[in-house]
Amino acid sequence: MNVAVIGANGQLGSDVVRALAEQGDEVCSLTHTDIELSSSDSVADCLRAQDPDIVINTAAMHHVENCEQQATKAYAVNAIGARNLATVTRELGSVLIHVSTDYVFDGKKGEPYVEDDIPLPLNVYGNSKLAGEHFVRTLNPKHFVLRTSALYGEHPCRAKGGQNFVELMLRLARERGRVRVVNSEFISPTPTADLARQIAVLTRCDAYGLYHATAEGLCSWYEFAREIFAVTATDVGLDVASPAEFPSKVPRPRYSVLENRGLKTLGLNQFEPWQVGLRKYVSQIPTASVVPAA
Ligand SMILES: NC(=O)c1ccc[n+]([C@@H]2O[C@H](COP(=O)([O-])OP(=O)(O)OC[C@H]3O[C@@H](n4cnc5c(N)ncnc54)[C@H](OP(=O)(O)O)[C@@H]3O)[C@@H](O)[C@H]2O)c1
Repeated sequence: MNVAVIGANGQLGSDVVRALAEQGDEVCSLTHTDIELSSSDSVADCLRAQDPDIVINTAAMHHVENCEQQATKAYAVNAIGARNLATVTRELGSVLIHVSTDYVFDGKKGEPYVEDDIPLPLNVYGNSKLAGEHFVRTLNPKHFVLRTSALYGEHPCRAKGGQNFVELMLRLARERGRVRVVNSEFISPTPTADLARQIAVLTRCDAYGLYHATAEGLCSWYEFAREIFAVTATDVGLDVASPAEFPSKVPRPRYSVLENRGLKTLGLNQFEPWQVGLRKYVSQIPTASVVPAA
């Protein structure tokens, strides 16, 4: 397989490149200097030159506050960019695997969202990503749209400036000895290594469509922090913070848990419980020691 990965130096893209190389694919790693999603010329020139069997798009403008302040740019990248990719991949006969987000939902369902649930994004980021999903789904029949949630991985998230939540918690514990985290927003913390493995599996299949793709189970950010400290035997005080302590300028879903119903129906779901993914991730951090599983 000749696979082009867009956003190849990002948090997810780096792991996707590795997972594809491990399964023997010929990988073309494309970074922002190689391709500009919002430019139809750039997308066409770059992909026509590569003529890949599969294009995997992990690139996005996904800093939620920046999207809100620069809505035109967010739509240019996340919506028109997806349209550009879908148009060119259809012309080339390539499969397009496009990564989307749990933020397409408003969070009011209060139980895990499945693929059939009607999206209703609360902010520019979610709306622009949903528009991108629609373009991909309508313009290239050979597509996978994968909605994921709360990513963390070995490589830094470029949009969020470095440290992921796990590293942030461990650093704050070291520096302050006491940490406060909100207990009112629920997510499925998903290791990028697991999502990359899921994407690699989908490159060998033609069950095109929209899929939810997150770690199994759910937790609040407080519960995620508690598990991080338990797994690493970190001696720290952990308190529940009120949402008012960390006010967000942008509305966000308070419950964005996704159920991987489509992948499970196909027998293709690669994800493990979020606690298992966390344990594996932490065991690779050089400075963290991991408590043996009970
Ligand atoms: N991070 C999360 O918690 C999370 C949760 C749910 C869904 N997602 C989705 O998961 C995907 C991957 O996220 P991530 O955390 O791996 O992101 P990331 O580390 O910020 O990487 C994003 C990549 O996209 C590139 N990029 C940004 N704008 C671009 C443009 N206009 N044209 C071409 N490339 C561009 C960036 O390059 P530069 O940095 O050089 O600009 C970077 O390489 C995104 O689609 C995101 O919406 C993320």
